[in-house]
Amino acid sequence: MKKIIAFNWKMSPSSLKEAEQIIKIFQNPRSMIHDPRLIICPPFIFLQPLSKLLKTKNSKLKIHLGAQDVFWAKQGAFTGEISASMLKNLGVKYVIIGHSERRKWQNETDEIINKKIKIALETGLKIILCVGENLSVRKKGIKFVKQFIKSQLQKDLSKLCPYGTSREARQTTNYKLQTNLIVAYEPIWAIGTGNYCDPKDAVEVVKFIKQTLNPKVILNSKVLYGGSVNSKNIKDYLKYKEIDGVLVGGASVDKKELKLILKNLNAI
Ligand code: PGA
Repeated sequence: MKKIIAFNWKMSPSSLKEAEQIIKIFQNPRSMIHDPRLIICPPFIFLQPLSKLLKTKNSKLKIHLGAQDVFWAKQGAFTGEISASMLKNLGVKYVIIGHSERRKWQNETDEIINKKIKIALETGLKIILCVGENLSVRKKGIKFVKQFIKSQLQKDLSKLCPYGTSREARQTTNYKLQTNLIVAYEPIWAIGTGNYCDPKDAVEVVKFIKQTLNPKVILNSKVLYGGSVNSKNIKDYLKYKEIDGVLVGGASVDKKELKLILKNLNAI
């Protein structure tokens, strides 16, 4: 199976010119990658120009675009928000939902995240749902980490799998989750800190997430790892068959790092 490599640019870079320079790194033949599924998630305002750039005739790139967030309502008077259909109509395929930075700075609750997942599924967007514990939970031990993540998954995916309704409805919902949901295990203490999770510990949680979701919620769910992934450690995660890919933040907008990451990907 193709590994999924998603790049979360967060609130960077500060100009379109710089964004285009980052894309050029992918276009450099030495860093051209055909195998993994590449997803770039830039800030909203760069989605349209970058989608045009990626569609240009001479572009051999296979890069999908993802948004970093979406609003939960279909339409209406919600100043400053971006709807799922706006993203879809722009050709955006993926959307990150429930990133811990949004949970923290925008006070996003599991209830809001659940609504966002619902609208994204209805609109036909693929979701990268982020879950992960903070340091105090991690310090209590792996049992508590698992409990925490299970509870996040149950709340975030609540009512998306209506066990009580007809078989047909169940199958339809399951099918949508099956093909459109990717979970990213992103321990909060590892994000942006350089203090990445030991790959073996990440595998344990990734396996747990898969057990929690399979087979009732989704069969063969895809789970990524994210948190201080860089050019030096990326291969240590990707070598595990349980880890379906990585979500890279800070290193994906550092041009030097990005070049090395792409080089390493070519080597796997
Ligand atoms: P990081 O961020 O790679 O900078 O730790 C990962 C993320 O927030 O998705």
